[in-house]
Amino acid sequence: MDMDYEDRITAPEYTAADAENELSLRPHRFDDYIGQEKVKKNLSIYIEAALKRNEPLDHVLLYGPPGLGKTTLAGIVANEMGVNFRVTSGPAIEKPGDLAALLTNLSEGDVLFIDEIHRLSRSVEEVLYPAMEDNALDIIIGKGPSARSIRLDLPHFTLIGATTRAGQLSAPLRDRFGVIFRLEMYTPEELSKIVCRSAGILGIDLDYDGAMEIASRSRGTPRIANRLLRRARDFAQVVGEGVIDLKSAQTALDGMEIDELGLDLTDRKLLTTMINHYNGGPVGLETISAAIGEEAVTIEDVYEPYLMQIGFLGRTPRGRVVTPAAYAHLGMAMPSGNSSQTNPEQQKFDM
Ligand code: ADE
Repeated sequence: MDMDYEDRITAPEYTAADAENELSLRPHRFDDYIGQEKVKKNLSIYIEAALKRNEPLDHVLLYGPPGLGKTTLAGIVANEMGVNFRVTSGPAIEKPGDLAALLTNLSEGDVLFIDEIHRLSRSVEEVLYPAMEDNALDIIIGKGPSARSIRLDLPHFTLIGATTRAGQLSAPLRDRFGVIFRLEMYTPEELSKIVCRSAGILGIDLDYDGAMEIASRSRGTPRIANRLLRRARDFAQVVGEGVIDLKSAQTALDGMEIDELGLDLTDRKLLTTMINHYNGGPVGLETISAAIGEEAVTIEDVYEPYLMQIGFLGRTPRGRVVTPAAYAHLGMAMPSGNSSQTNPEQQKFDM
């Protein structure tokens, strides 16, 4: 039976099991936040400037693949500004009234964090525009010809929106963010620092080589690295000496069928299906989706970013293609005469 992607240990999506992990491990200050140096540097300047002017921070949009720390960063911003941190998400705000209730309950200067902001409905977005621009809430009273609009003042607040898909945000909403940052995947060195910090907090015995091994198989994602750390501890306690070193980390990760690059069974199935059934592409997203039984949006948001990051998958106008590097990694022979992959002139991947 196919695994649901939420069950994959390498799925970057947030699961209930991560809740405890992330609450205790989440850094509260920029000083404890590892990686995303450019974002950190710029945000700290904007925060310092806003604090000096005694004003709230401009609205911030954070985008990038799941699990890279968008919520954590937003929480740090609230902390550094010394204000409350209110958290909600696009799908949770069903009606304009839900958002109105949230906005009227804010205190001066608060940070309102809306995760998956691309999933707000049009009618809810329309409440957000005047709130972001003029700190105002427009309420319609009555119906038909006698309906009239009244404007309520809202406290000044900072909206931090997070999305995996900046392209799906409507232009009017995107334009109302003064600051837009793209979060990048983490390097293995950064991830090893993150797992060492987490091991310290959780009291896990982890050495440098063990940390690097977990880091290099965590697909650039702290959420996955922290999850693998916990599973590696289980292996180390049951089949090892309790210490996560290179050998016990390798045993744990091999046991979970996560390879040296962090690919799991589903990633490999995606690539081998494209190779075996579609000659390595180009093949359309919907076709891949039907062939491996995963939703197209899941493939786009969850699987493809890392496969593209490591140069295993390319996007062309005619569909997805498997790259020569992926063939080499899987130990599979490139088909002869597949000109779209062997002719460098045509190898224009839109990555
Ligand atoms: N835990 C999760 N993400 C982190 C990060 N970027 N820095 C430190 N600890 C983290």
